[in-house]
Amino acid sequence: MASDLSSLLEAEDFRKAARSYLPHVLFEYMDRGSERETALKQGRAALDRLRIVPSLLREAGPCDLSCSVLGKTLATPLIVAPTAIAGMIRPGGEARIASAAASHGIPVCLATQSIVPIEAVTKESPGNVWFQLYIWQNRQRMLDLLERVKAAGVETLVVTVDTAAQPLRHYNRRNGFSMGFRPTPRSVLDIAAHPNWAANALLKPLVQGRGIPDFPHYPEGLRPDVLRPQQDASVRLATDVTWRDIEHLRMVWKGSLVLKGLLCAEDVAQARRTGVDGIVVSTHGGRNLDSAPAVVDVLPSLADEAGNMTVIADSGIRQGSDVFKMLALGADAVMIGRLPLYGLAAAGSAGVERILHMLLEELRITMGLSGKKRISDLGMETLLGVRIQE
Ligand SMILES: Cc1cc2nc3c(=O)[nH]c(=O)nc-3n(C[C@H](O)[C@H](O)[C@H](O)COP(=O)(O)O)c2cc1C
Repeated sequence: MASDLSSLLEAEDFRKAARSYLPHVLFEYMDRGSERETALKQGRAALDRLRIVPSLLREAGPCDLSCSVLGKTLATPLIVAPTAIAGMIRPGGEARIASAAASHGIPVCLATQSIVPIEAVTKESPGNVWFQLYIWQNRQRMLDLLERVKAAGVETLVVTVDTAAQPLRHYNRRNGFSMGFRPTPRSVLDIAAHPNWAANALLKPLVQGRGIPDFPHYPEGLRPDVLRPQQDASVRLATDVTWRDIEHLRMVWKGSLVLKGLLCAEDVAQARRTGVDGIVVSTHGGRNLDSAPAVVDVLPSLADEAGNMTVIADSGIRQGSDVFKMLALGADAVMIGRLPLYGLAAAGSAGVERILHMLLEELRITMGLSGKKRISDLGMETLLGVRIQE
């Protein structure tokens, strides 16, 4: 654990602390993109290209970060994005993230491929947990999972639609990692070089009789674990997902339905016609299609097309001004993926709490310095360097 939390001042400090705590294989899985990492780098470059033009001497006083998302008022425009196997970073990882986020009134979206089950996460933050769904090859098994998610009190379902093929992440192959660890001489040495992580994440659960961490949303008997990550074909990600699946989900899921991973205006229009409540404009954090456009380049036209749907944006947010920029381009709120993971690795729940605090403080400061008091004050006219792509 980073001995002195107060030395962690910006995202890169947390990232460095995460890199020294985690085995190389897990850090790369969490931190990197796909293929040549063009989407990752270009997405960041596009955020940096945008400049904020202040307009001063208007209203003074503290700013209000509240916003409206899916018909509800949120205290801040942040939502924690779904990230698979966060529970391997620290035991109970997903629940720790939820409890830290709850202290800021921030909802979390739990991944299908989490290590902590939905029932334990909703306990940490009742009413504030969303669920991310990957559509499985066997749709009936997926519907059974949805019943369980509903029974746990979840109202918002986020269906990830940008993973119709397995993305190429070469470093995972080289590291012997595929949603779990393949013991190789290199990975064993890597883990041995990170004894604190090994003791917390592997030895303690074994000694306490909790066994090898597994994927609790998979049906019993077909449940992979992190040392045997092979999935039964019926619960592999479906590669034949179409709008008919979304129409069907719209019929069976009575709560809010959100599609994650849209980057094209025609898909947004179709989502609207299908009765979807919200979209997440996302490149999956630069981890899927390596030639994907930068989110900030497509966001204005997608937000336009979205009509009354809630628009959430993510990918590449590392500081408060990034949040400001995505909101100014038309997002109602943003998701953050890696930042809470860096915080979790650096210092457990306290690290997550601190990195969320840092991001909110940076957003307040950016708003203050640019003369904005409310989220609704952020518009495209505050930005220089906007490129609008249809
Ligand atoms: C380690 C990791 C695992 C992820 N797992 C999932 C997942 O299971 N489902 C999903 O929809 N997105 C997943 N994502 C993508 C995030 O939900 C989110 O879109 C992305 O992390 C946002 O970019 P950022 O990390 O730069 O904030 C994952 C991202 C990371 C970093």
